[in-house]
Amino acid sequence: MQILVLGSAAGGGFPQWNCNCVNCRRARAGDPAASPRTQSSLAVSADGERWLLLNASPDLRQQILANPPLHPRRGNRHSPIAGVVLSNGDVDHVAGLLTLREYQTLSVYASDRVHGVLRDNSVFNVLNPAVVARRTLPLDSAVEIGGFDGAPIGLRVTAFEVPGKVALYMENEKAGPGFGTQSGDTIGLEIRAANGRHFFYLPACAALTPELGARLRDAPLAFFDGTLWQDDEMVSAGVGAKTGRRMGHMSIAGEDGSLAQLAVLGVRRRIYVHINNTNPILLAGSPERLQVEAAGWEVAYDGMEIRL
Ligand code: MLT
Ligand code: MN
Ligand code: ZN
Repeated sequence: MQILVLGSAAGGGFPQWNCNCVNCRRARAGDPAASPRTQSSLAVSADGERWLLLNASPDLRQQILANPPLHPRRGNRHSPIAGVVLSNGDVDHVAGLLTLREYQTLSVYASDRVHGVLRDNSVFNVLNPAVVARRTLPLDSAVEIGGFDGAPIGLRVTAFEVPGKVALYMENEKAGPGFGTQSGDTIGLEIRAANGRHFFYLPACAALTPELGARLRDAPLAFFDGTLWQDDEMVSAGVGAKTGRRMGHMSIAGEDGSLAQLAVLGVRRRIYVHINNTNPILLAGSPERLQVEAAGWEVAYDGMEIRL
C-alpha cells in the first residue's frame, strides 16, 4: 500500500491567506524552517494505479499537479483517482470535490450525515450523478471501496465515530454545547489492503475515549489530529477567539493532549496531520517540534510518502 500526504495543514493552509502570525510570516518570507503546506488530504493506493483520496481539500488542483501518480495516464480524459472518502463536512475536506467536476467517473464515500451536507448544497451537483456515485459509509463495518462502476480497488475502509463537532458553517448556537453535532459528523477511518496492511486516519478528534484507544492500540500507523499545540494557541497568538476544544480538536500538549494520551497505546508510527498555521511544531527545530520528535512522532509534510 502506498500513502501520499497531499496536504498536511489544517483549514486555511500554511501560510493562511489572511494570517500574519509569526509562523505565517516566516513561511511567506521563505524561511526554510517554515515550509508551506496545503490543506488536509491523503491519497492511498493498493496497486499504484488506482487511488483513493482521503478528503478533498480546496488545494486539490495544486496537490494533483504536485503528485505525478495522480496525473492522467491514458486517452484524452483519464484520472487514476477512483474515489474519495470524506471524514467530515469541513470546508477543508469537501471543497476539493468541486475540482473533481469535468464529467470524470468517481465514487464519493461519506457518512449519511456528510452526504446530507453535499445534498443540501446544490453547488455539489456539478458532480453529475451520471458519473459520480455517492455511497454511504456505515459506521463500524468494513466497506470494499470501488470506483464509479463498483470495481474494487483493493482497499477496505472502516469508518468509526470519533468525538468531534459539526462543520463550522452548520453550527447551531441554540442547540446547546454540541452546536447540533450528530452521529457521523466526524469519523475516523481505518484503511486496509488485501494483504492485511492497514493504518488509521483521524484528522479531527476532540478526545481520546477508551473505545478509540482500544481501536488504535498496537496499530502499525496512525495519522492523527495535530491542529493545535495547545488549546488556547489561537487566542494567545492574537488570531482568533476560539480554543481547540471549541473547534472539536484535542491539542498536542498537556495531560489530556494527544502526545500523552497516545504514548501508552503502542502505535508504532504516529504522524501529525491537519496542522494549524499557528502550531509551533510547523517550525523545524522549535522546542515543540523537538519534543514531539523525541516522543517518536513525525510531523507530516506535503509530498511525504509512505509504503506499508
Ligand atoms: C476545522 O478543522 O476545525 C475546520 O476545518 C475549521 C474550518 O472550517 O476552517
Ligand atoms: Mn479542518
Ligand atoms: Zn498564521
